[in-house]
Amino acid sequence: MIKTSRALLLLATLLAGSAMAQGMQVPKPSAGLMPNPNIGKPLFDTHCASCHGADLEGSDKGPPMLHKVYQPSHHSDMAFQMAVKNGSRAHHWNFGDMKPVEGVTADEVAHITAYVRMQQRKAGIR
Ligand code: HEC
Repeated sequence: MIKTSRALLLLATLLAGSAMAQGMQVPKPSAGLMPNPNIGKPLFDTHCASCHGADLEGSDKGPPMLHKVYQPSHHSDMAFQMAVKNGSRAHHWNFGDMKPVEGVTADEVAHITAYVRMQQRKAGIR
């Protein structure tokens, strides 16, 4: 268990390092923003549900967000910002890559993330 979390920490460090090395942008929400799941829900429905499912249970195009893989300790809020801005190479599943999602601001991603976290907590994923 300890070994696993060390490996994950190392992986996270490497990923953050390589993101910077590749000049990827890590968008930051506005200072003082209060992420609000009620604002996040309709944004999720518009921009994310087509792949991640209206109920967050996934679809034939993308994985469920109500999954241990996406609990906060595995995928931080920064991972959400990165995935939306830069896309994400397929590495956990076989759905293919996630492309960057255009037209969603960092503040909106913070609201979406708050919504996902709320639903995860309800599903016992924390
Ligand atoms: C066109 C389909 C599609 C859309 C739209 C989409 N995603 Fe994804 N997303 C994927 C797929 C496929 C993966 C899994 C990649 C893999 O195999 O790990 C993924 C993975 C992720 C991950 C995990 C990234 C990582 O670091 O492993 C996050 C976070 C995420 N999506 C958030 C979002 C959010 C938030 C939105 C809406 C703003 C969104 N996605 C819209 C297809 C999509």
